[in-house]
Amino acid sequence: MVSSLFALVALLAQDAFAQTGSARGANFLRFGCSQLSVERIDPLVNPGLIPSAHTHQIVGGNSFNSTMTPVSQDPSTTSSCTSCKLSEDFSNYWTASIYFQSPENGTFKRVPQMANGRLNGTLLEQDGGLTIYYMQPFSGTNLNVTVMSPGFRMLTGDPMLRSQANGSVAICHRCLAANERMTGGSGAPCSSTDTASFPTTPCPGGIRATVIFPSCWDGKNLDSPDNRSHVYYQPGSALAGDACPSSHPVRIPQVMYEIITGYGAHGDYLFGWKAGALQRAMNALGTNCFSETCPVLELQPSSNAINCTKPQQAVEDVGSDTWLKELPGGMKVQ
Ligand SMILES: *[C@@H]1O[C@H](CO)[C@@H](O)[C@H](O)[C@H]1NC(C)=O
Ligand SMILES: *[C@@H]1O[C@H](CO)[C@@H](O)[C@H](O)[C@H]1NC(C)=O
Ligand SMILES: *[C@@H]1O[C@H](CO)[C@@H](O)[C@H](O)[C@H]1NC(C)=O
Ligand SMILES: *[C@@H]1O[C@H](CO)[C@@H](O)[C@H](O)[C@H]1NC(C)=O
Ligand SMILES: *[C@@H]1O[C@H](CO)[C@@H](O)[C@H](O)[C@H]1NC(C)=O
Ligand SMILES: *[C@@H]1O[C@H](CO)[C@@H](O)[C@H](O)[C@H]1NC(C)=O
Ligand SMILES: *[C@@H]1O[C@H](CO)[C@@H](O)[C@H](O)[C@H]1NC(C)=O
Repeated sequence: MVSSLFALVALLAQDAFAQTGSARGANFLRFGCSQLSVERIDPLVNPGLIPSAHTHQIVGGNSFNSTMTPVSQDPSTTSSCTSCKLSEDFSNYWTASIYFQSPENGTFKRVPQMANGRLNGTLLEQDGGLTIYYMQPFSGTNLNVTVMSPGFRMLTGDPMLRSQANGSVAICHRCLAANERMTGGSGAPCSSTDTASFPTTPCPGGIRATVIFPSCWDGKNLDSPDNRSHVYYQPGSALAGDACPSSHPVRIPQVMYEIITGYGAHGDYLFGWKAGALQRAMNALGTNCFSETCPVLELQPSSNAINCTKPQQAVEDVGSDTWLKELPGGMKVQ
């Protein structure tokens, strides 16, 4: 039994990976990131609060902090390492931790979350992590994207939801077969084989959680009071095409997280690429730059990514190795 901390909103996405004109499928960068820390810190939703409401797994640049003042605390200049395989990416990516509750005695243990095993399996089964995608439009007349500016951050999903509701976010789960563990499965995310809620049968290869962020930006605000309204999903489609509304005219790379095992019912994103690096890669996407292979970016050895960790700021036992009597922060099981 997995405690259902967060229920889900989901929108079944079009089969974007299948409908593209490219023989290789959609255009995207894909890379693994190792775990930077697990703690109750959230500079986006609870800036300055130590500890914040619930536990997150965080990956990316090691300048991650309870306060990340836009622009002045630019992770690409304040980090000394990144737990991501692409060495110029100091962005931070974080998701909710998942807890297993013992049916025998009611205690809790944190469920490991990890990257898929692409990129040579190097991050799979490490102490944790997740896989990041940056996707370009799959069809349409303008396949270019404009990369977010330093200081940009956004939130998707809703940790307060306890039932499936309307929403223009895309969060879904796939039950992986044993032989899908290395790749994390293939084909479009959030397709008809995926479910909004956790799978109800055992998943030998793990549970794959997908979190898809909006792809249109107002082009002006690095954040907004609800951390969401400066970005926008295309109506009816989580995996967006090329068009954006006039209110949010800038088509940005669509960020997607893939987490093996987690419920990941919301995702937080804080841009922190070295100047120009992501735009360079998005412009190069196509024949010579795709998925795990993009020569205009530098892959660092997995050992460097794995070595990039950060001590907790909110110091507490988050149940990685021990069984907890209650969820961190005393959060209720619902
Ligand atoms: C967090 O940021 C503050 C400045 O806002 C800085 O003084 C502090 O050293 C940082 N802490 C960590 C753990 O990086
Ligand atoms: C509670 O149950 C788990 C297994 O479900 C077990 O590993 C753990 O040791 C138990 N804890 C106590 C205090 O009995
Ligand atoms: C993949 O792993 C093999 C065997 O460990 C190694 O020889 C090879 O260099 C690796 N390739 C990359 C791209 O890391
Ligand atoms: C798209 O980007 C390429 C490469 O930077 C550029 O040559 C082209 O003009 C751009 N197209 C549009 C419609 O902006
Ligand atoms: C869902 O959205 C539709 C159309 O916007 C609206 O009519 C309906 O009331 C919404 N339902 C909920 C539960 O918010
Ligand atoms: C993001 O949302 C949180 C929680 O609602 C809020 O405290 C924070 O101020 C928001 N960020 C901005 C820039 O408004
Ligand atoms: C990673 O850390 C280990 C243990 O501290 C150390 O032996 C190793 O040299 C480090 N690797 C890199 C690439 O820094």
